[in-house]
Amino acid sequence: MKIAVIGTGYVGLVTGTCLAETGNEVICVDIDESKVRKMQNGEVPIYEPHLDVLFERNIKAGRLKFTTSLKDGLDHGEIVFLALPTPEDEDGSADLKYVLGVADDIGKIITDYKVIVDKSTVPVGTAEKVEAAISKNTDIEFDVVSNPEFLREGFAVDDFLKPERIVIGSSSERAIDLMEKLYKPYVRSGNPIIVMDEKSAELTKYAANSFLATKITFMNEIANFCEKVGADVDMVRRGMGTDSRIGKRFLFPGIGYGGSCFPKDVKALYKSAKDSDYDFAILDAVVNVNQSQKTALFPKIEDHFDGNLKGKKIALWGLAFKPETDDIREAPSLYMIDELLNFGAKVTAFDPEAMDNVKRLLGDKISFAENMYEATESADALLICTEWSIFRTPSFKKLKDNLKDPLIFDGRNLYDLDDVSKEGFTYYSIGRKD
Ligand code: UGA
Repeated sequence: MKIAVIGTGYVGLVTGTCLAETGNEVICVDIDESKVRKMQNGEVPIYEPHLDVLFERNIKAGRLKFTTSLKDGLDHGEIVFLALPTPEDEDGSADLKYVLGVADDIGKIITDYKVIVDKSTVPVGTAEKVEAAISKNTDIEFDVVSNPEFLREGFAVDDFLKPERIVIGSSSERAIDLMEKLYKPYVRSGNPIIVMDEKSAELTKYAANSFLATKITFMNEIANFCEKVGADVDMVRRGMGTDSRIGKRFLFPGIGYGGSCFPKDVKALYKSAKDSDYDFAILDAVVNVNQSQKTALFPKIEDHFDGNLKGKKIALWGLAFKPETDDIREAPSLYMIDELLNFGAKVTAFDPEAMDNVKRLLGDKISFAENMYEATESADALLICTEWSIFRTPSFKKLKDNLKDPLIFDGRNLYDLDDVSKEGFTYYSIGRKD
């Protein structure tokens, strides 16, 4: 099929590339000329595992092309995906200026029937707004479909190629048929394509993300409570997670959820409920608890050093908001760095992918190490903010040699309490015995 994808951020690029992978002819459109030029030369603008291989293969096969011309994209695609940013507005709601701006332009240049697909995470009622923005400028027939994405950064390619479900929100048989045809190769294993109305599809995305954020936050509160009463959250997690109604996943406590999705989506759902006169109280609590959770380790650091952090050197492992990404949006590491610097500590960080992004943001406020052990040289303590695999089985001997004292603050509960204690470390983590 012929596809256009408007916007080449994480979602658009993965969508375009993975749609080309099953033989569709895809044109990706972006207003950023230098980015388009780079992509035309085969350069992948983001770090996402496996994307580079698919990207190169489909460009070579002539199935994946890039342009800055919305008209060229629209002329080509019978299905047109809108994968545009929906940044957080000052009041927490999702800003639709990019989505509606492109919809407006589409109305001016559309010449034949198109299915316009909202792929971005957008508030309930956006499909109607997109439809109104397009039809304001044209009489040509078109349909607007809500087709939220459920891709996780770091696993986006896999999630796209083997989705657990596809949600299609539409009231047009013609559009539903085309969308089902497009997604058929991806659900061969029998996973469902769930068809519903546009508003329910839009809400499904917010409900899923907010539920997961709530699940994590609930466990973070259980962890905090464990510390008060001397229980071990690892045990509680295992005891709870084996109940199939609860499930084992997304029960890992830590220093809070981050990224470009959960923080923004929870706030946007809260705001959109408020706009409809509904006080979604649990979401307000989730936002507040997560905010304080990001620095939950800080009081332990402060206590350990008797409030005197001035001049202390802290080695920090993990800057990205989670492993397998270079994304630092809303990353707990940044909040920890802020606190540490405010109290006069010095930070030397290492992250396998995210250091360039943090350098751009913080400049020389902190220093960066070539590798994980270099960061710990002559440091007073090691602080872990992201659970990258390489941090899971370090050489404790090397750490001991490098650190001034064998001292670890772990925001992701990476190590077995007995193991670190046998190695002679003082170890602080989340919801377990210190
Ligand atoms: C999330 C959703 O999982 C995707 O389904 C969705 O498509 C995406 O948002 C989106 O809206 O685009 P993502 O933000 O990439 O994906 O990351 P997740 O893997 O879901 O992790 C989110 C945050 O939760 C991370 O900060 C992670 O460290 C944290 N987390 C996750 C925990 O603290 N504990 C857990 O048990 C699991």
